[in-house]
Amino acid sequence: MNLTSRIATYEFENPLMNASGVWCDDAEKLNEMVQSPSGSFVTKSATPNFREGNPSPRYFEVPLGTINSMGLPNLGFDFYLDYSIRFQNENPGQVNFLSIAGMTLEENLEMLHKINDSEFKGITELNLSCPNVPGKPQVGYDFERTKEVLTKTFEFFKKPIGVKLPPYFDIAHFDEMASILNQFPLQYVNCINSVGNGLYIDIDKEEVVLKPKDGFGGIGGAYVKPTALANVRAFYTRLNKSISVIGCGGVENGRDVFEHLLCGAQMVQVGSQLAKEGTGIFERLLKELKEVMNEKGYESIEDFRGKLKSI
Ligand code: SIN
Repeated sequence: MNLTSRIATYEFENPLMNASGVWCDDAEKLNEMVQSPSGSFVTKSATPNFREGNPSPRYFEVPLGTINSMGLPNLGFDFYLDYSIRFQNENPGQVNFLSIAGMTLEENLEMLHKINDSEFKGITELNLSCPNVPGKPQVGYDFERTKEVLTKTFEFFKKPIGVKLPPYFDIAHFDEMASILNQFPLQYVNCINSVGNGLYIDIDKEEVVLKPKDGFGGIGGAYVKPTALANVRAFYTRLNKSISVIGCGGVENGRDVFEHLLCGAQMVQVGSQLAKEGTGIFERLLKELKEVMNEKGYESIEDFRGKLKSI
């Protein structure tokens, strides 16, 4: 069975990868991602320098998913850039995704300049959608700002790059954001980041489960799958064909992976369920995806990718 997937000129053995933030913040976890059968991996969204992130508890597992308010804890940009360059040098022909999330436009441009001037041959992911930094609204919800960030980026940036978007909930917003994204030579958009600022409460204690932001945090897992699929589909049908879509949200089994691919995703990321289950999940998802494809008589992802039917 052929599970080959592509983003830009890069080919991956299968479409699975982690969602940025999950199993990718230090060398030990990144090494586990490299050892796993996932098709690729993305590093934790980096800021120029080490960041402690929000106070704990800042992550909580619930029956239908997770809620987090991590606040971008990370080892600093240089660590993830060095790791990615070492990975590509030790694994000729393979590349990973390098995620960045500056606190300001200037921080993003500073990191993008460093990537542009480095030996990094992989794909950069510009995270425009972290909902968890107090006082910093999600850039992806500000259309003018998004256009400004992309304009400034493409004034000099010459390497493959995609953006991680927040979920949108209105057809007018899908239309408006797609028309902005279509003006730039992006390789992909990643839909979706967590559904921002949800609230999960402990009914026995009658209190919130997270310390930062009075308990408000990004929701992932089964709760968000319909929103994730809608965003994948909405952007797949609106973007220039040169811009791929990466699907992220609510993947717990092979059928969920199949659904993201059917909506048009090229790669499919796993967040909450990877955090719960560890990298062993990739072997299970690949087996389950192959079972679904087998049941339906498909031999390659291209047989059904994007071919969701209307009624
Ligand atoms: C976080 O570190 O708060 C999560 C990252 C993200 O949602 O982009």
